[in-house]
Amino acid sequence: MKFDFTEDQLMIQQTAREFAQAEIAPSAVERDISAEFPYEIIKKLGELGFMGIMVSPEFGGAGMDTISYVLAMIEISKVDASVGVIMSVNNSLVCFGLEKYGSNYIKENYLTPLAKGEKLGAFALSEPEAGSDATKQKTTADKEGDFYVLNGIKNWITNGTTADYFLVMATTDKSLGHKGISTLLVEKGTPGFNHGKKEDKLGIRSSDTCSLTFESCKVPLSNLIWEEGKGFNFAMSTLNGGRIGIASQAIGIAEASLEASIKYSKERKAFGSTISNFQAIQFKLSDMAVKVDAAKLLTLKAAALKDAGQPYHKEAAVAKLYSSKIAVECALDAIQIHGGYGYVREYLVERYLRDAKITEIYEGTSEIQKIVIARSLLDTK
Ligand code: CAA
Repeated sequence: MKFDFTEDQLMIQQTAREFAQAEIAPSAVERDISAEFPYEIIKKLGELGFMGIMVSPEFGGAGMDTISYVLAMIEISKVDASVGVIMSVNNSLVCFGLEKYGSNYIKENYLTPLAKGEKLGAFALSEPEAGSDATKQKTTADKEGDFYVLNGIKNWITNGTTADYFLVMATTDKSLGHKGISTLLVEKGTPGFNHGKKEDKLGIRSSDTCSLTFESCKVPLSNLIWEEGKGFNFAMSTLNGGRIGIASQAIGIAEASLEASIKYSKERKAFGSTISNFQAIQFKLSDMAVKVDAAKLLTLKAAALKDAGQPYHKEAAVAKLYSSKIAVECALDAIQIHGGYGYVREYLVERYLRDAKITEIYEGTSEIQKIVIARSLLDTK
């Protein structure tokens, strides 16, 4: 087992760190308040190759590995987890699935602009009555001539109002249960396809989340991804990689909490000394550092397995479960260390807590990750 990153991986990490400081940090606080989508930042991330990091250069991507993706996601999310999730969805839930399962037509016409960052993608699995229980899809896609006709509602869609291309899971054959679910790529602006209002969220506020509605929306048969009936497997397979992305986002938040706490504790004076001299503070900092390190190792392990072409669904679930849990814990500790200052906007750490919470919910709740892990341990899946 090697712990050294390659020169390319370190270069990606450094580029992401510098970009985050120079281009994302200045507007992060304001966008958290205004909930404005970071269009310019996403455009620049695309120019850097960060919207299709793992996609092969043949299809407009940067051709890097999952470890590089993890390192970049941590640096970006450390400064702004909203930007982190926009980047994660495009990379792991959209580009990865299209490269692995899309036809050449799909790769040339849709994956390439997505990987170059010229277009933005979204992933539409959840429904009002199908969240964790994702097999219970009510959205239907009936074949009529050269088209599928989509009808239904999707919920909680990241990049929902801003994306150009949507991967929509829908039932093409009700009688087959989850084996009758298929994935269709739907373009923004297709007649019959509309989005709801942007949700007013607790955290990751400048990312964009909304519902989608499909009413007799005609999608060409050529926009089917993989095969009819493979939509649920497609969703599960892409979510395995997505969970590595969200674990990395959570680590970014946890590390930001730790760094803010170290800085503050060395500045803040109480009882005749900086508070960094007190064991009560030191123990918290140590606990946070151990958690961040452990989360990184778990997430890099899942990424390394994925890069090696080995099964990684359990490791991705472990990484997401743990990283999201410690992101919330580290943000809470950071607030405690900051005292009253931690509870107001000026010191950022209250945002870390608001941003951290969603990592325990989306791309599979913590409870779902435990199911995935337990099934793997018990060899029932
Ligand atoms: N990897 C690959 N395949 C998987 C899998 C995984 N992690 N989990 C299940 N599957 C496959 C199974 O092998 C099975 O395949 P076959 O039919 O070919 O044999 C099929 O999926 C059905 O699996 P189960 O019988 O286990 O289905 P289930 O209903 O008992 O449970 C579940 C499945 C694990 C609970 C699943 O429904 C799940 O992961 N739910 C959570 C959904 C989720 O993560 N939603 C996130 C929404 S997307 C989002 O948040 C994006 C965003 O915008 C940020």
